[in-house]
Amino acid sequence: MMTLVDMSKHELEQLLHELKSKYNGYKSKNLKLDMSRGKPAPEQLEYCEEMLYCLNGNFKSENGIDVRNYGIPDGIPEAKRLFAQILDVDPANVIVGGNSSLSLMFDITSNAYLKGVLPGMKPWSTVEHPKFLCPVPGYDRHFSVTQFFGIEMINIPMDEQGPNMDLVEKLVADDDSIKGIWCVPKYSNPSGVTYSESVVKRLGALKPAAKDFRIFCDNAYVVHHLDINNQDKLYNIYQACVEGGNEDMVYLFTSTSKITFPGSGVCAMAASPANIEYTRKLLSIKTIGYNKVNQLLHVRYLQDINGVSALMERQASSVRPKFTMVQQVLNKELADLGCANWSNPNGGYFVSFDTMPGCAKRVHRLCAEAGVTLTTAGATYPYGIDPADGNIRIAPTYPPVSDLEIAMELLALVVKIVSIEKLLA
Ligand SMILES: Cc1ncc(COP(=O)(O)O)c(C=O)c1O
Repeated sequence: MMTLVDMSKHELEQLLHELKSKYNGYKSKNLKLDMSRGKPAPEQLEYCEEMLYCLNGNFKSENGIDVRNYGIPDGIPEAKRLFAQILDVDPANVIVGGNSSLSLMFDITSNAYLKGVLPGMKPWSTVEHPKFLCPVPGYDRHFSVTQFFGIEMINIPMDEQGPNMDLVEKLVADDDSIKGIWCVPKYSNPSGVTYSESVVKRLGALKPAAKDFRIFCDNAYVVHHLDINNQDKLYNIYQACVEGGNEDMVYLFTSTSKITFPGSGVCAMAASPANIEYTRKLLSIKTIGYNKVNQLLHVRYLQDINGVSALMERQASSVRPKFTMVQQVLNKELADLGCANWSNPNGGYFVSFDTMPGCAKRVHRLCAEAGVTLTTAGATYPYGIDPADGNIRIAPTYPPVSDLEIAMELLALVVKIVSIEKLLA
């Protein structure tokens, strides 16, 4: 099959005419499909519903504390142990939080901004132009946090191995106003990339000019494989920092949002003893304690990392066919046309899709006008500005496979239309 650029003007015009009449057909179907956010499908919530009933009147954590009452601001011991297994760290280095890892990330950023990362360190707010490195495409809500504090964000291109480490190393070595980097090291949002061992070791061995530089390592998709027999392996980032003589340089975050219930799960962070001690102190000013009933529910239900894996296999039975459908439609409709690229990840919640430069916004709009809402074009970049206007995040998990097939066919159709229009312009 010919790529679009190989076609004559006449051929392109003819094809465009056909595609537009197909598109009008979609418009008359009055579709209403929302694929804008990575949410589990309704059946995924049912897979773990029994968790809600598993306390059976036993409200005591293993150290004898009644979880219905105040106390233990950094989490019950069995929950620390569970998250330590998920994050591959020592339970002593874990704080178990509330329902959202994003809010922990916000709190940690806020503490660093107002108080400094450790006692005796200057608050980031005292720096004239604090900056953060943002591997792109990335997670919009990370970028919103740093934007909220007025921290300037610098795009770092991602490839199949992770962020461009030559650039990261150079920037952090030269500029002590660069205070951190956002990372989603496993099944990254949205590219699905898992950082290579070399990238992780280089992150751990960074020599930042800023002594209070921090890696915000958001391991939101750490156990989220599509196929238990085909998992990406991630080198332990905390270990890499210890080996690099940078024990205090990293904060790890995760949550059960896409394991059990998003928004009603449990989150955790892990870091060095010094970071954990200071963070515990600061968080205990914010709260007398997080929701320990929910922590106990999660541990009683999941038990340990094997329980987590068993549930994730079940979750994958819903997610996998949807990722397969995305690849099927894109391959069938677009593989030979040379007008788009997309990721084919082994896990996570997203497929990252790149149009020809200058097409993503219009693709988003035409899909919306035909009833399919995608994540806003640009959202995967700081300030919502994708310099190439090319990246679109596909979130396949929520709709049923049959709806997803229609949505993907429409997306492919629209990509062809917009690409041809661009070539003819
Ligand atoms: C990379 C990443 N981190 C964090 C979150 C949100 O996590 P939580 O629900 O624990 O706040 C998401 C949700 O989409 C995500 O994709």
